Amino acid sequence: MYTGLQHAHSGLAYLVLLVLILVILWSLVGALSGREFQEKDRKIALIAFILSHVQLLVGLILYFISSKGYELLSGGGAMSDPVARLTALEHPVINILAIVLITIGYSRAKKLESSKAKFRSIYMLYAVGLVLILSRIPWENWIVTN
Ligand code: HEM
Repeated sequence: MYTGLQHAHSGLAYLVLLVLILVILWSLVGALSGREFQEKDRKIALIAFILSHVQLLVGLILYFISSKGYELLSGGGAMSDPVARLTALEHPVINILAIVLITIGYSRAKKLESSKAKFRSIYMLYAVGLVLILSRIPWENWIVTN
């Protein structure tokens, strides 16, 4: 189960990053063009929203079964080791925060009145979320093992 989830989390990461970038660009172009925010724009933003939530779920399970997650944190010593601190604390906390921002961006867009404000809510909050995600990816692990 661990290996399967590790591969799922790793593979989904590519998809989440790619889709976030595409949705940010799509919404930015939408805002700049001054066109009306349509149902298809909401659905496109929803794809990134769903993928990031699936990734959150897989990440949460992984956190409790991986030797690089809770086990490291509860064993002590993780705080003084930057590599251990990344997967045991920084990566989960910052990614949860990023997904909260993505959720706010999507939900606000549904409530806002003007099309420009809807597009802006998506591209701004998704972009901040993306930057946070990128800032705490365990690049060394990911690139070496894939
Ligand atoms: C959009 C959000 C996220 C992205 C893009 C992401 C991406 C990644 C990537 C690329 C890796 C390295 C995979 C590898 O070495 O093959 C990783 C590892 C890990 N992630 Fe995430 N992650 C996200 C959210 C989370 C969350 C919310 C948690 C926990 C609550 C989490 C827990 C972990 C753990 C424990 C590992 C180490 C797994 C292991 O190799 O044993 N991730 N993540």
